[in-house]
Formats: sequence, C-alpha cells, structure tokens
Amino acid sequence: MEMSQIEIIPFGFAAGAEVRGLDLSKPLEPADLATIKAAWLKHLVLVFPDQDLSAEDQIAFSRNFGELDPQESQAPETLHPDHREILVLSNKVESGKKSGTHNSGRNWHTDLTYTSRPAKGAILHCKEKPSVGGDTMWANLYLAYETLNPNIQQLLEELEAIHDVTLIRGLEQRSPDVIAEMKQRNPPMIHPVIRLHPETKRKSYLVGERVRGFVGMSDEESRHLINMLNEHATKPEFVFRHRWRLGDVVMWDNRCTSHVALGDFDQTQPRVMFRCSLEGEEETGRPFERPQTDDRAAMAQAVAAVS
Ligand code: OGA
Ligand code: MN
Repeated sequence: MEMSQIEIIPFGFAAGAEVRGLDLSKPLEPADLATIKAAWLKHLVLVFPDQDLSAEDQIAFSRNFGELDPQESQAPETLHPDHREILVLSNKVESGKKSGTHNSGRNWHTDLTYTSRPAKGAILHCKEKPSVGGDTMWANLYLAYETLNPNIQQLLEELEAIHDVTLIRGLEQRSPDVIAEMKQRNPPMIHPVIRLHPETKRKSYLVGERVRGFVGMSDEESRHLINMLNEHATKPEFVFRHRWRLGDVVMWDNRCTSHVALGDFDQTQPRVMFRCSLEGEEETGRPFERPQTDDRAAMAQAVAAVS
C-alpha cells in the first residue's frame, strides 16, 4: 500500500498547524490517523488545506475522532436538512429569512458549554467565504492556566461556573423561533472551571464570555474574576488566528481551547461553514436553578445553596 506523505507545518507557537498531503474524502490509513491524532494533541488546531468534502465525507472523517454530538442543543432549522450531524453556519438569507447561525461564534467560547456535555472537538469545513475577513481565532487554554500565579490556580481549583446560552453575542438578532429553541433546549449549566485533559493530562481553565457567574460568588465578584480570566486567556501570545481559504478543514480540540469567529467582513458576501461536533467524553454539567426572586440577599443565598 502506498504511504501518504504527511507534512505538519506549525502555524504558531500557541496553537495551529497545517497538515499537508492528505485527501480527507478518502478513508485514512491507520498510520496517518495516528499521525493526525498526535499532531492534534500537540497543536490543538489542525488545518487541512484544499479539501472538497461532501457532507458524508465530512461525517466519515469526523468519526475517526469520536462519536458525533447528536445536536439536540441546536435549533433543528440550523442543521443540514439531510444530515443532522452537520450544523450549517451560514449568513445567507433564504426566502427572506436570516439563517439562525448568521452571527454564530462572535464571543470567546468553547463549543456546547451551555449543555451538560461540552463538545470534545469540532471539524469545520469552509464552503463559501467573503473576499476578506471572517477569520477565526483560538486561544490555548493550557498556556493560560499554566501562566497563572499558583495562588490564582488554587482559587480556581474548586470553582464552578454558570454557562448561559443567552450570553451568546448577538443571539437577540436571530429569529424569535431560533432564540426560543436555543433557550428552551439549553437552560443554564454549571461546569467545573478546571479541566484535566484526558489524553495529555494537562490542566486548563474553562470560562469564556458565555459565563454569567461563579457558584457561591456575588455578581460583582464574578464579573471581575471572569473578566480577568478571559483577558488573560486571550492575550495575543496565547492566540492563533486563521485566515480561511476555500476548502479548508479545521479541526480543534475543545478540551483545551476557546475560540471566536470575527464578524469583520462584508455581510452581503456569503460565508458558509459546515460543522461536525465531537460529542464530549464526559457529562460534566448540572443545571443551575435560576433564583425565583430579584431580592439580592435571596439571590445570594440561592447561589450559595447550589455550591
Ligand atoms: C464554530 C464556531 C467559528 C467560525 O463553528 O463552533 O464558533 O469562524 N465558528 O465560524
Ligand atoms: Mn464555536
């Protein structure tokens, strides 16, 4: 059997590498799969240029890395009509209606943290792109954790964060039915802040801009800590920025990264991406019961009660 000549070219120090020499529409040789898995753990975000995958091809490639998320957290109209495993990220207007994903990913996040089982990873295929702009950035959350002062690392150790789907930036601009679906399917969810990567055994911290607070802290205390941790995690030295080319397939490890989709492009030009999400290996979340009152003391007690 002919061996592929895989080349792995790092794009950045924090994350990102290009993987050349593969046609992902074909089944992978076991040796090539092992090379990709090792490169994924090392570089966190892999870019496979020049691919032309059908929905079936993308699903088959993604299954090499785990089960696919059943996408029950998503509004059905945002999924591929024939393949529920694919979420269609599109800014196209179809029969006068804006797509339910026209502004997805516009604040720093890790996928599906508003569910009980945040995604293990994602595989995103660029189908259409604007002439300029619309880049995506990823932050290396290992480096973010490892560069914190040990006293702060200690503070995070037992901390739990409340992830809230309503904090998706621009959610209010989507159609009312998509907003209603997203809220109804995804009540606020509590996850531990510290994560241990099951394969690399390195620690990182999971916060991001879709966290509304920490269990057992006031809103004000939470706000300052959230901002500090997010600012730190997204410092330029921890971030890899990808400028998309048509046909790119990008695969990231959600267990140690966060990302953001930049809205800096002409919105009259189409930007279309197909995403497969790898199902999280562990259900780390539990629902947060929203306090039934706006009385501050009662709210503080209610928050403390779930800690
Ligand atoms: C995603 C996402 C990034 C992008 O697919 O999870 O956040 O650039 N998209 O579209
Ligand atoms: Mn995302």
